[in-house]
Amino acid sequence: MEGELIKAALAALERAYAPYSKHRVGAAVLARSGRIFAGCNVENASYGLTVCAERTALFAAVAGGETSIARIVIVSSTGRPTPPCGACRQVLAEFAQDLEVVMVGGKSEKRAWLSALLPDAFRKDRKGLS
Ligand code: THU
Repeated sequence: MEGELIKAALAALERAYAPYSKHRVGAAVLARSGRIFAGCNVENASYGLTVCAERTALFAAVAGGETSIARIVIVSSTGRPTPPCGACRQVLAEFAQDLEVVMVGGKSEKRAWLSALLPDAFRKDRKGLS
């Protein structure tokens, strides 16, 4: 399963659209159902419109009918483990009580729980008074 996720993330990295930063990122999410969805970063001439690989993968999962995510694998063209940006951490927190974040570099790998990367996350259940 993890091998498949890494393969999907690497294939997505090849499709990254990063002509400005040249920093290519691929991600693959594992939905609780067992299905895998991949994504890559997509940049824009208007730089601020860029969307990270983690979010394109996650949004592909949501578009595919999945709203509960168990794990995400992230690979980048640096060949070193790359952590998800703060915005992606927040968006990931929407779709899992907790989830495993696997950052895969060439030979090294880092693992962390989202709850450690984004403690005390702002979630829908924290918006109200309940
Ligand atoms: N990027 C990601 O895809 N994921 C992250 O978590 C951090 C940054 C992308 C956005 C941009 O295309 C490039 O990396 C440089 O910031």
